[in-house]
Amino acid sequence: MRGVLLHGGLGTRLRPLTHTGPKQLIRVAGKPVSQWVLEDLRDAGVREIGVVLGTVSPLRVVEYYGDGSWLGVELTYIYQGYPYGLAHAVYLARDFVGDEPFVVYLGDNILAGGIREYVERFLESGADAMVLLAEVEDPRRFGVAKFDEGGRLVGLVEKPRVPPSNYALVGVYMFRPPHIFRAIEGLRPSWRGELEITDAIQRLIDWGLRVDYAVVEGWWKDTGTPGDILEANRLLLDEKIPGARLEGVVEPGARVEGRVVVEEGARVESGAVVRGPAYIGRGSRVGPGTYVGPYTSLGWNTVLENVEIENSVVMDGARLVNAGRVVDSLVGAEAEIATSTGLPSGHRFIVGEKARIRL
Ligand code: G1P
Repeated sequence: MRGVLLHGGLGTRLRPLTHTGPKQLIRVAGKPVSQWVLEDLRDAGVREIGVVLGTVSPLRVVEYYGDGSWLGVELTYIYQGYPYGLAHAVYLARDFVGDEPFVVYLGDNILAGGIREYVERFLESGADAMVLLAEVEDPRRFGVAKFDEGGRLVGLVEKPRVPPSNYALVGVYMFRPPHIFRAIEGLRPSWRGELEITDAIQRLIDWGLRVDYAVVEGWWKDTGTPGDILEANRLLLDEKIPGARLEGVVEPGARVEGRVVVEEGARVESGAVVRGPAYIGRGSRVGPGTYVGPYTSLGWNTVLENVEIENSVVMDGARLVNAGRVVDSLVGAEAEIATSTGLPSGHRFIVGEKARIRL
């Protein structure tokens, strides 16, 4: 079984965070979203993985993951160039997968329970394809499954205005070559100008091939929007951080309570309070007068001084100094939120494209 990790896309709904890097590298609860995905693949026994890269700083992905050996996987990079859709990305992986069954995993999807059980079920089944479904309240932003009265999967519709069910397609798909590649060859671009994997699987169904499905248990998150990232952060901090792990320095006079990770090289200084679940990334400094509240993740090398922060994600190298109370926020890499004394009062901004500031 081979893996295909889709690491492309433009991440438009996450701008400005995605102006400088791919969305899948946003670190949530200590790891980029796509690292949670790679570890899931590895834990399902899938070690040879093709990573399909898009146009947003693809070299950053190569730089971060390298050959994958540090994660116990073997990576092959495939360049998609412009994102013409998931089916296009899958098609580019055809030489990489050869004749082997393979699992496609979208690099911005997170599943609490992992995929091991589904991979095993697929390998035993002999099916031509298998999709995962999750029950959601509003399926209109996803691919949606259609069933007949007997509960048989008879159709898949991409982002329907009137959904045929509440079962959304999770971003994990399993295939046995070669039919899926033939199905993609006959596709026409959808209304959003993309070759949809949903339409390709529909063709497999229309051809009478066997497409199985499984309904995932536990939570599933597609991290396409800022709200999704914050929610994924909460879910991962709850799920993956079972207890405190203090590998960095906690100075006397600092208080660290509950499920908190302080990574090596991080420092919680005297007069700071961290209340878990929270994650303090490598090289970060939580200075005096700072309160890091539940469901906060700090990336690498962040600096916090005299600020209260809660339910937020702070990316690498960001600085929050005398910043008051910050809640429900996503702070991009190298961003700075600070007040300076001695200057006339008033807020001072250098606000990037698509930035959002709520005061
Ligand atoms: C894609 C798929 C959609 C699926 C979703 C899961 O949507 O097209 O069928 O439900 O991923 O994350 P996109 O993220 O391209 O809007």
